[in-house]
Amino acid sequence: MNTDQFLVKSDINLIENTKFTWKTPSNIALVKYWGKSNPQIPKNASISFTLNNCHTITTIEFEKIEKTTEVTFDLFFEGKKKEEFKPKIAEFFKRIQDYCPYIFNYKMTINSENSFPHSSGIASSASGLSAIAMCLMSLENELVQDLSQDFINKKASFLARLGSGSASRSIEGPLVVWGEHPAIVESSDLYGVQFPFKVDPIFQNYQDVILLVDKGEKQVSSTVGHNLMHNHPYATNRFQQANDNLGKITTILQEGKIKEFIHLVESEALTLHAMMLTSSPYFILMKPNTLEIINSIWEYRNNTNSNICFTLDAGANVHVLFPENEKDEVLQFIDKELSKYCQKNHYICDTVGLGATKM
Ligand code: PMV
Repeated sequence: MNTDQFLVKSDINLIENTKFTWKTPSNIALVKYWGKSNPQIPKNASISFTLNNCHTITTIEFEKIEKTTEVTFDLFFEGKKKEEFKPKIAEFFKRIQDYCPYIFNYKMTINSENSFPHSSGIASSASGLSAIAMCLMSLENELVQDLSQDFINKKASFLARLGSGSASRSIEGPLVVWGEHPAIVESSDLYGVQFPFKVDPIFQNYQDVILLVDKGEKQVSSTVGHNLMHNHPYATNRFQQANDNLGKITTILQEGKIKEFIHLVESEALTLHAMMLTSSPYFILMKPNTLEIINSIWEYRNNTNSNICFTLDAGANVHVLFPENEKDEVLQFIDKELSKYCQKNHYICDTVGLGATKM
């Protein structure tokens, strides 16, 4: 694997103070990544829809200082200094320092805010880390001239991945593949790439309503969950199945086979949670209302022949996916039948988006 391509090889022309602001989205995986080796190399390929409304906006102010041996930064979240978030970001900077040596020449002030409530159970690591990665690449683009947009996106995804695997899929859109796979020629374990084929219109502008079943902190972090795949009795089969599913969904998306899409996506969600149920120690992230929602979706689908389906990430919240042409009916159904299973009836309407934007 060629990580050398991401080292800074040309001269760095340090500039004085500057700042950049980026808005980067969250994403929802259709084929899931669960299990990795060091450093953040996925055990199987995954694919996600990039979201539009769930995003992070981050500004980094760079102030030139005498070169240091420790990265110097302050972190503000929604206007307040957040010491408790610093260790994770400090660890991220450590992982990327060889690829971004210029971070030792600046004091960084990071200001971040999310469009979704902080304690909504929606993972903010994907949007949060991809936003920091884009700000760093904007700086690098000033220090080392003539970077292509393709390289900037690739390296931003590469850097974001080192913070949180799924963050590698939050730079571009509408569909991103991360992890080497024979069906996707340019795919890599090091960064996400845009799904390279034309997608059937039924999958364009797809809708995702996120039902906030449990807004609390997860009992088991995804870091712990990934690690439990190391000695997992079903791991080998699971990684093979995920790669097979990536091959299948590549065709499904191009040919518009929506019934097969529904089957594959729901199976992926349940398999992810089956891995949790069968880890040692075992754990359950779904809540009773997660199951109520799944059963209601199945009942509605049986009664109406709707193309609604669900997926889950590593938590209790349910992502309800459906084509844009079913929006009116499905939103009514969600409001009437599903919102009662959400904390304070709270849900977020989102659609598929196109990735990071500079502000
Ligand atoms: O990026 P992480 O380490 O938080 O892992 C994310 C894993 C899932 O969200 C459960 C699946 C995925 O592919 O996004």
